Amino acid sequence: MRVLVIGAGTMGSGIAQCFAGIGPTYLYDVNNEVTIKAKVAIEKILERQVSRERMTVADKDLILNNLNLLEDLRELPGQVDLVIEAVAERAEIKKKLFQELKELNLGQPIWASNTSSLSITELAAHSPDPTAFIGMHFFNPAPVMKLVELIKGERTSDETLAQCQKIVEALGKTSVQVEEAPGFVVNRLLIPMINEAVAVLAEGVATPEDIDTAMKLGANHPMGPLALADFIGLDIVLDILNVLHDETLDPKYRPHLLLKKMVRAGKLGRKSNEGFYQYS
Ligand code: CAA
Repeated sequence: MRVLVIGAGTMGSGIAQCFAGIGPTYLYDVNNEVTIKAKVAIEKILERQVSRERMTVADKDLILNNLNLLEDLRELPGQVDLVIEAVAERAEIKKKLFQELKELNLGQPIWASNTSSLSITELAAHSPDPTAFIGMHFFNPAPVMKLVELIKGERTSDETLAQCQKIVEALGKTSVQVEEAPGFVVNRLLIPMINEAVAVLAEGVATPEDIDTAMKLGANHPMGPLALADFIGLDIVLDILNVLHDETLDPKYRPHLLLKKMVRAGKLGRKSNEGFYQYS
């Protein structure tokens, strides 16, 4: 299977790493420096896996040999079976990308979006083929997390869904089928919990460390909600809350003011070295 991944940020590069384990994968980003950085980061992760004896050198080499960087989408040699986009979470950017993709001869691939909350039906309507369009939502870090949410838009065919279920299985992951709804399943549950943790912090109920320890040891979460918010990116958390709120008009999804203030101040979590915690 030949896969084109568009967007080489954290999610795009993680997704490309997953697919490179099962076949030729092409990674493209409008900013070529981002693509090059992604490959360097993947090499580092794989080398660490090899040094920890979690991966053989042959498997590492297979992934790296399958992973091809594209400077220009027109460099793509031949057609692909799956196109998955993981570009910025802005409907306008994604729609413009689909417009550009319509002009390339990519064959008849499945068109997938890794959007974390945007409407699949709306994105599909701007894609080259709405029946072959689906939400394929990976979780960070994509090579580690076992789940992929598969979201059918209004026009997504049953065949597209069935093919994607097989693809997820080939990746060694588990899929769940989700009807279109803002935030799908995971973010609908996870992001309001993070928002509530921000409220708990803002009310002075507990320190960030104690809030996180409470949820790690009291609910067996691998990370506390504030550390997780820093890991996801506070801007992304805010974007998802805004989608939940705007789509439902339900006040229970209203983003906490402290979260908004932190995003406005550029405190975005790990990626800006500052969020609920400091990073070096
Ligand atoms: N890429 C590849 N592998 C990675 C990685 C990365 N970015 N980060 C960690 N790993 C691997 C490590 O190599 C290690 O593998 P081995 O055990 O085989 O050596 C394994 O993951 C565990 O890593 P660590 O030992 O360094 O750290 P950890 O045990 O604390 O686990 C974690 C780290 C996997 C991130 C864990 O803390 C965790 O599961 N956290 C919760 C993550 C989560 O909830 N993600 C979903 C976010 S929501 C989302 O993504 C959706 C959205 O739309 C916003």
